Amino acid sequence: MKVLVTGGLGYIGSHTVVDLLNENYEVVIIDNLVNSKIDVLDKIKKITGKDVTFYEYDLCEKEKIEDVFKKEDIKAVIHFAGLKAVGESVLKPLMYYKNNLMSTINLLEVMKDFNVKKIVFSSSATVYGEPKSLPIYEDFPLSTTNPYGSTKLMIENILEDLYKSDNSFDITILRYFNPIGSHKSGLLGENPNGIPNNLMPYIVRVATGKLKILSIFGNDYDTVDGTGVRDYIHVLDLAHGHVLALKNPKTGLKIYNLGTGLGTSVLELVTTFEKVTGVKINKQFVERRKGDVAACYAAINKAKEELGFAPKYNISDMCQDSYNYVKKNKDI
Ligand code: NAD
Ligand code: UFG
Repeated sequence: MKVLVTGGLGYIGSHTVVDLLNENYEVVIIDNLVNSKIDVLDKIKKITGKDVTFYEYDLCEKEKIEDVFKKEDIKAVIHFAGLKAVGESVLKPLMYYKNNLMSTINLLEVMKDFNVKKIVFSSSATVYGEPKSLPIYEDFPLSTTNPYGSTKLMIENILEDLYKSDNSFDITILRYFNPIGSHKSGLLGENPNGIPNNLMPYIVRVATGKLKILSIFGNDYDTVDGTGVRDYIHVLDLAHGHVLALKNPKTGLKIYNLGTGLGTSVLELVTTFEKVTGVKINKQFVERRKGDVAACYAAINKAKEELGFAPKYNISDMCQDSYNYVKKNKDI
């Protein structure tokens, strides 16, 4: 079966492509390289020994997507492509709405025209806003606090309306919690541009000496040690969730949280990182970051029961693999 993976050279997309190839899917990637590098393609081939068809196209150009659907016999789509930096989305909201919404609408229109009705979409735990209680279930109220999150929620609404208008669509919305870690080979991983906003990319750069000190945003939250709690999930487990979503016998419109169901504080993550790598992380406590919630972790019962989702990796594995990636890639 031939699967189109948009954003397939990005962090989560590349790991998912490897998993798909290992499961004998044929893969076609569309990526405009706005946040990824072309050498990822060779690394995917090196890991799997398999070929991928790649189109360096922007999904905002609809005729480019049509070109791919004319040439390739696409049966399903996994849609990762999008811009994802929360802070940047506040500074450049129009860029975020334009890129994330236009690309998705173009893609859905072409899918409809070519009668391809199966799609898996990358949403985010950010759509839960400030959760009313923990763990977070899929039917909790939704709200957002920044343009990036709003694009995710808007796309969820678009997919729901599309499904209401045409219930032959088979739509899976996956709400990711906090992916970290990297491929065991050290060839694939997360390499954000500039100074990282997210915790693990920051920690590994302090570990390698590229950055001096980790600022921990707040130590007065009502959590186990006062620092923010998140549900970190190994990117390999997250990637596998997409393969399970493709294989899901249940059709229609489905929404699943993908996390581990476990909360880890910033200090717990840093301590585990130091333990497994033997590298000390310089750190300081600073003010809370605006817009952060105290704690956020998923209920994953639904993904477990309906998809057979069973995360394999723990926080130690995630720390080890994140560090392994930066050690093997000196330019990071
Ligand atoms: P990423 O930036 O590494 O990958 C996204 C890819 O999409 C990049 O390779 C980029 O070049 C490509 N892209 C962006 N706009 C495009 C366009 N118009 N046309 C073609 N290609 C385009 O991000 P990621 O971490 O792999 O995330 C993948 C998806 O998961 C995103 O939609 C993101 O919002 C979502 N998500 C990520 C996280 C996270 O913490 N990483 C959490 C929740 C949800
Ligand atoms: N943190 C620090 N110092 C840093 C970076 C982060 O203390 O330098 C703390 C944050 O305050 C938070 C935790 O580490 O408590 C995790 O922060 P991240 O920025 O790594 O992750 P978030 O949970 O804030 O957000 C991420 C993505 C969002 C996505 C969300 C849920 O950035 O886009 O996960 O998937 F919506």
